[in-house]
Amino acid sequence: MPARAKKLDVTELLHADHQIVRELFFSFSKSEDKAEKDKLVKQILTELFIHAKVEEEIVYPLLENEGEEGQEIKGEAENEHRVVQFVMAEIVNMKSDDDELKAKITVLCELVEHHAKEEEKEMFKKLRDSGEDLEALAEEVAARKVELRKESLPAMKASLVIGDEVKTGDAKKNSVKGDKDTKHKTGKAVRGLQITKTRKKSA
Ligand SMILES: [Fe+2]
Ligand SMILES: [Fe+2]
Repeated sequence: MPARAKKLDVTELLHADHQIVRELFFSFSKSEDKAEKDKLVKQILTELFIHAKVEEEIVYPLLENEGEEGQEIKGEAENEHRVVQFVMAEIVNMKSDDDELKAKITVLCELVEHHAKEEEKEMFKKLRDSGEDLEALAEEVAARKVELRKESLPAMKASLVIGDEVKTGDAKKNSVKGDKDTKHKTGKAVRGLQITKTRKKSA
């Protein structure tokens, strides 16, 4: 009898998202083709947008119940998301031949990597210790991602550019004064992922 495949738990799902974005950043760094670079930038922004949304809507609120440490992790992560979104909003309308694009993507990549590593090290442990049903959470996150993926890129762009957190300047208040500061201060973001690739159907 075939053994039932283990269901993904939410930390595995989020980690798979992180990996997808890492791969996209790597592909961008290697690409010499303008059209391909444009496509990769769109994919990076889309994946980050979706991943951040599901974390903020479904995952981060759970940290509220995890004592002072959980709340600190949540606060830092949310601030890092804002910094990342600030950089994303700058990138969103750039063309592949824009001289600054490569530098901005490098900064974004560094911010995201810093953030993802912290989540993997600290937040995932908190989630595993929380007693929450991590498999059920994974299903909830995956379903929300399907919904978000139906939103058009223009809608995501509008949300990034006009979004209250980014455009009202919260990101700046929270620590950013420009790319130099951004680079050294936070870095978190979101990575998204291709649910269909990560959620292997266990049948
Ligand atoms: Fe994440
Ligand atoms: Fe995050």
